[in-house]
Amino acid sequence: MADLTANLAGIISPNPFWLASAPPTNSGYQVMKAFDAGWGGAVWKTLGVPVINVSSRYGAVNYRDSRIMGFNNIELITDRPLTDNLKEIEEVKKYFPDHSVIASLMVQTKEEWHQIIKDVENAGADGIELNFGCPHGMCERGMGSAVGQEPAVLQTITEWAKEAATVPVIVKLTPNITDITEPARAAAAGGADAISLINTIQSIVNVDLDTFAPNPQVDGKSTHGGYCGPAVKPIALNMVKSCAQDENVGIPISGIGGIESWRDATEHMLLGASNVQVCTAAMHYGFGIVREMISGLEQYMDDKGFNKLDDLIGKSVPKVESWEHLNLNYKVIAEIDEKKCIGCQLCYIACEDGAHQAISLSKIEGVRVPQIIDENCVGCNLCSLVCPVEDCITMVESKNNKGHESWSDYMDSGKAPENFDDDRAGGKNHWVPKPSDALKDKKESR
Ligand SMILES: Cc1cc2nc3c(=O)[nH]c(=O)nc-3n(C[C@H](O)[C@H](O)[C@H](O)COP(=O)(O)O)c2cc1C
Ligand code: SF4
Ligand code: SF4
Repeated sequence: MADLTANLAGIISPNPFWLASAPPTNSGYQVMKAFDAGWGGAVWKTLGVPVINVSSRYGAVNYRDSRIMGFNNIELITDRPLTDNLKEIEEVKKYFPDHSVIASLMVQTKEEWHQIIKDVENAGADGIELNFGCPHGMCERGMGSAVGQEPAVLQTITEWAKEAATVPVIVKLTPNITDITEPARAAAAGGADAISLINTIQSIVNVDLDTFAPNPQVDGKSTHGGYCGPAVKPIALNMVKSCAQDENVGIPISGIGGIESWRDATEHMLLGASNVQVCTAAMHYGFGIVREMISGLEQYMDDKGFNKLDDLIGKSVPKVESWEHLNLNYKVIAEIDEKKCIGCQLCYIACEDGAHQAISLSKIEGVRVPQIIDENCVGCNLCSLVCPVEDCITMVESKNNKGHESWSDYMDSGKAPENFDDDRAGGKNHWVPKPSDALKDKKESR
């Protein structure tokens, strides 16, 4: 059986599944229950000067039959006194000495940082996470994402934390920034032992069409919130990858964002995360989801012959190139499995209106399976993505004898088009129907 022991910058936990700093880690009661269910670590709900929260606090994007595809909150850091939290951290560590308890912190002055770090270390915290990510409420007070968006300030505060800390310091980054590697590099330059990402994304999830106020509403008004849950995983994965690829970052990563299954967690780790943190999924489904995460990851690692997490961490990083290095001579074409096709025509409509008019409908009575017009198909994948039948449309490689040639090679060899009508442009001979063909069927039926 594969060994799931995780190591983030020297913080060892029995598995890579941590709860992120959020409502599920608001109290010792919850963290104790979570560890008992199988979570390997927990980042405590951010500690600082306790706040007063508003009511209501959450909104969601429900997509078709899925509840909470995206989640949004306007909650701030802990509203409980520091002394209560410290006592509970100490108690949790007594029961679970081998599990990781990380104290998430957010204060303002150097003195406050030094003091609170001393306090949480005395309570037994195994690490410290600096919350430079909260995108509402705290940033207006000069904390949270206000720091995460200013690499120089982030570096200075990281240095303050490192002056006081004897346990590893993790810097939690905000995604509300153009280039995530800038604050990540600043964290590394400030001496951080690791980074964690992402915190939530500034958002308005929806507007009530009767009251005209967005949700969640507080006495008829709202404010932008922080977006998370399954919807943000693609953004998180890209940011994790960018940090993992950047040599000037070069410190371990804790991956956060949209994780609700062992598959999501594994994707984060393949793209460079040493462990993962989960918030929305634990709020939606409860602590029990960790059992499927553990067994799923174990099974996957056994199937792939991975003995330890290091065998898979970062394995996908070299598989991500910048666009200019992708092979322009690689070509795929859609292929429909006639036996699986139910004749719904969704692929035809999508390719007709949204792609390259490379699917035709049979004119023969009773034949419902559409046909791919190979020479028009650009291999965009759209039809296979809209097809409701699993594996009914597959993208098949169309072999040619051309070798690898990227845009970058093209530029170097002087073949790249230089003006608007350049004959060397790839699209010169693409077939497209005549504009008036769009109205042909209407004319014929008149
Ligand atoms: C209601 C709520 C409260 C949160 N509070 C905090 C917090 O106090 N400190 C913090 O660093 N992140 C906080 N977060 C952000 C989460 O820790 C996490 O970064 C984010 O939700 C993305 O992960 P997810 O997609 O698994 O939810 C909060 C998230 C939610 C939904
Ligand atoms: S892959 Fe794209 S172009 Fe080819 S048939 Fe499908 S939708 Fe049309
Ligand atoms: S979308 Fe799939 S099932 Fe529907 S007609 Fe196309 S190939 Fe057949």
